[in-house]
Amino acid sequence: MIRKKVLVTGGAGFIGGNFVQYFVNKYPEYDIYNLDLLTYAGDLTKHRDIEAKNNYFFIKADIADRAEINALFEREKFDYVVHFAAESHVDRSISEPGIFVKTNVLGTQILLDAAKQINITKFVHVSTDEVYGELDFDLTTFFTEKTPLQPNSPYSASKASSDLLVRAYHETFGLPVNITRCSNNYGPYHFPEKLIPLTISRALSNQKIPVYGNGKNIRDWLHVFDHCAAIDLVFHEGLNGEVYNVGGHNERTNIEVVKTIIHLLGKSEDLIDFVTDRLGHDKRYAIDPTKLEKLGWKPTYTFETGIFQTVQWYLNNEQWWEEIISGDYKKYFEQQYGL
Ligand code: NAD
Ligand code: TYD
Repeated sequence: MIRKKVLVTGGAGFIGGNFVQYFVNKYPEYDIYNLDLLTYAGDLTKHRDIEAKNNYFFIKADIADRAEINALFEREKFDYVVHFAAESHVDRSISEPGIFVKTNVLGTQILLDAAKQINITKFVHVSTDEVYGELDFDLTTFFTEKTPLQPNSPYSASKASSDLLVRAYHETFGLPVNITRCSNNYGPYHFPEKLIPLTISRALSNQKIPVYGNGKNIRDWLHVFDHCAAIDLVFHEGLNGEVYNVGGHNERTNIEVVKTIIHLLGKSEDLIDFVTDRLGHDKRYAIDPTKLEKLGWKPTYTFETGIFQTVQWYLNNEQWWEEIISGDYKKYFEQQYGL
């Protein structure tokens, strides 16, 4: 029997990494190719448990290198693409927007061209709710798939641009695509520059935790395993050309999130440091996931169960995040906050 080839881009990162493990274990009948450039956010040590499996392969490559990507697609003739690779941190997009355009916009367009050339069966583009911009604090409005795109940060603008290209390749060339737009994720292997792993790692080391502005901004948190299950469903059942929002109605203010973690770790709230607000800081994100629920998805974690397990995971995997934060990241953090 001919085996199906699934290319996962960005599979050394946080969500792509969890997805690769989920797919390799759940679908031994698929060959999973993890393509990643191994930027500061990519790390292969997370895949020690699967690297010996005969349905897992790693390819080091840059999605923004057209010649390299075209040659790879021509050689391997992938059946499916699940596209996670991106620059993903809003603060970095404020200080260095250019790389976000190169990776997120040009990189996506190069993948779309390569996928078109080999008549791909499905291209799933993993996007974000941040493309919709921000909501008010009133808690009565939600992002639906029909909400206009109004990205506010260079990161979200680059993701929105890539979404529009994916849409255009469907409309113009009939490429079988789906776009997923998920809310903020958390869980194992989350890079400790993002709020939740940053809070856990800094609290564990009794270091100050920077909270932007007054801490009242709201994010809608989803455990990464629930996100992976959503992408699995869209991959197998999504109607071509459709967008699916992903979220589990877990809205929390940032200060609530930080205090929850501090209390779980038995630390003091004195660690909280209110610092200068992020430029253009989006007020609130909140997802209406009705369309995906109708397709058959529902989340399995509440925020309480998910954050408890995540804090435990960081306690059990100190070596992983200590290595990550010891190098370039430490310098970045000192420059960013002077802490
Ligand atoms: P991440 O930063 O943890 O991982 C990104 C991965 O992409 C890294 O392994 C990196 O090495 C790789 N990469 C970067 N540039 C590359 C290039 N030019 N070529 C090949 N690989 C490259 O990101 P994440 O948080 O796992 O997010 C993955 C995707 O999910 C992104 O597209 C992001 O926009 C989207 N998303 C993230 C969230 C979230 O809360 N983190 C929520 C919704 C959607
Ligand atoms: P982040 O994890 O960077 O995700 P995003 O900006 O994509 O939503 O930030 C989540 C929220 O936490 C956001 O409102 C900004 C805030 N935040 C802080 O208050 N302090 C921090 O050190 C970081 C990284 C984020």
